[in-house]
Amino acid sequence: MADWWDADGRRHRKQFATSAAAREHEHRETALAHAERASREMKLAARTSGVKRSSSKRETGAIEPAKGKLGVMIPGMGAVATTFVAGVEAIRKGLAKPIGSLTQMGTVRLGKRTDARSPKVKEFVPLAGLDDLVFTGWDIFEDNMYEAASNAGVLDYRLLEQLKPFLSSVTPRAAVFDHNYVKKIDGPNVKKDKTKMDLAEQLRDDIRDFRKTSGASRLITMWCGSTESYIEPTEAHQSVKSFEKALKENDEMIAPSMIYAYASLMEGVPFANGAPNLTVDLPVMLELSRKNEAPICGKDFKTGQTLMKTVLAPAFKARLLGLSGWYSTNILGNRDGEVLDDPGSFKTKEESKLGVLEHILQPALYPDLYGNIFHKVRINYYPPRGDNKEGWDNIDIFGWLGYPMQIKVDFLCRDSILAAPIVLDLVLFLDLAKRCSELRGLGIQEWLSFYFKSPMTAPGLYPEHDLFIQLMKLKNTLRHLKGEELITHLGLEYYD
Ligand SMILES: NC(=O)c1ccc[n+]([C@@H]2O[C@H](COP(=O)([O-])OP(=O)(O)OC[C@H]3O[C@@H](n4cnc5c(N)ncnc54)[C@H](O)[C@@H]3O)[C@@H](O)[C@H]2O)c1
Repeated sequence: MADWWDADGRRHRKQFATSAAAREHEHRETALAHAERASREMKLAARTSGVKRSSSKRETGAIEPAKGKLGVMIPGMGAVATTFVAGVEAIRKGLAKPIGSLTQMGTVRLGKRTDARSPKVKEFVPLAGLDDLVFTGWDIFEDNMYEAASNAGVLDYRLLEQLKPFLSSVTPRAAVFDHNYVKKIDGPNVKKDKTKMDLAEQLRDDIRDFRKTSGASRLITMWCGSTESYIEPTEAHQSVKSFEKALKENDEMIAPSMIYAYASLMEGVPFANGAPNLTVDLPVMLELSRKNEAPICGKDFKTGQTLMKTVLAPAFKARLLGLSGWYSTNILGNRDGEVLDDPGSFKTKEESKLGVLEHILQPALYPDLYGNIFHKVRINYYPPRGDNKEGWDNIDIFGWLGYPMQIKVDFLCRDSILAAPIVLDLVLFLDLAKRCSELRGLGIQEWLSFYFKSPMTAPGLYPEHDLFIQLMKLKNTLRHLKGEELITHLGLEYYD
């Protein structure tokens, strides 16, 4: 017996041979329901298209100004975290530009194409300025940010030398860690206590301490810690009550990342999850997030190979080109690669990477094109490459009359260079969500799907993976918050 959820969020129970069969059934049912709904909405739109919309602007949720400092708290001060913090400092000092950051370099078109109104995102909505960011973190190693960044080997030492005084001042707090969840590493800087609830209390003390000592008016927690072993939700994760009981009983199904998430949400602090762990993707966290108005989002930064997948797959579907196989392999030699060498951590990552194609290509709607895809993802730890990953894809597609073709993508990328601007945008947007009356009580911030491999959605909703739909959703959310007309790209009015 397994549960599945329909497109309206209703839960059903049915007998399935395997959990994959249950998932497949859910996707098919959801896809069909969405197709039917879309067709109903199109008919309705056609009937009501003569109704003129009010052109008066309406500010939707009130947004409090970004006054004072914004404290960024990072569990996991490794390659991604240090590249992000060092980058922010380098940009503040005028040494580099925030390439890759939508909040810093992106624009948002308002009104008609002929209006020529395209302000920068950071000028359109009130975001914290980079000068207002202050940082702290937790790690199982005692290295400060300068030492950790040097070890990570992502940034040039000449740049790091210029940032040394600042980076050295960010030292790690003792971590909540469980070797069973990250088998390939161990370190000395770890909190000890009787129960997991006591550990959560220690983290809450850290958060209050940072709030006081940094003088920050608002805080954000950003998980940049290692990928934890794969687990599935249990009874302990279903409500705040059962989770707190499990914390007190040292339930082994509570991973360290969940303890950070619990502590943050209890303190009313928004939480973003950059790794593929469950962490906030659990009913207990959704309940806490909504109750304490602390927005959540995740999971797993969409950086290299999956970014490419969510650009290419929508193109195949748009042109109705079939797909018979997609083989993706990666070699990387950083600590993340070492951690992912453990089968438990790899399984967590694999699940996150595999879901993408199925959701974009909708095999239930296009069985002739996508009904029989062989999709394989591999990650190999290969130390000589360090943080400079190679993501290699072989894609077997077919066209007119079924004739086969191949595409090869070889992405020689830099993992943390791609991840750092995502961290910055998430920090600033989550802080915006917390200051916005319409968003802060929603729990999951689906409009931030753009940044994730495995975006969180309301129960029963399938995630939107297509990068361009995600971007449109994000920008339309900003337009909506500011009472601007949403952009549909219909454009008939230009031909009146
Ligand atoms: N492009 C990318 O780099 C990318 C993309 C998607 C997801 N991610 C995920 O982001 C995370 C960070 O990646 P990274 O390259 O910086 O890895 P990293 O190994 O360099 O850094 C992770 C750090 O987390 C620390 N850590 C582990 N468990 C901890 C705990 N319980 N509390 C505090 N610290 C803990 C480790 O000691 C390490 O310093 C990983 O989970 C990775 O899978 C990275």
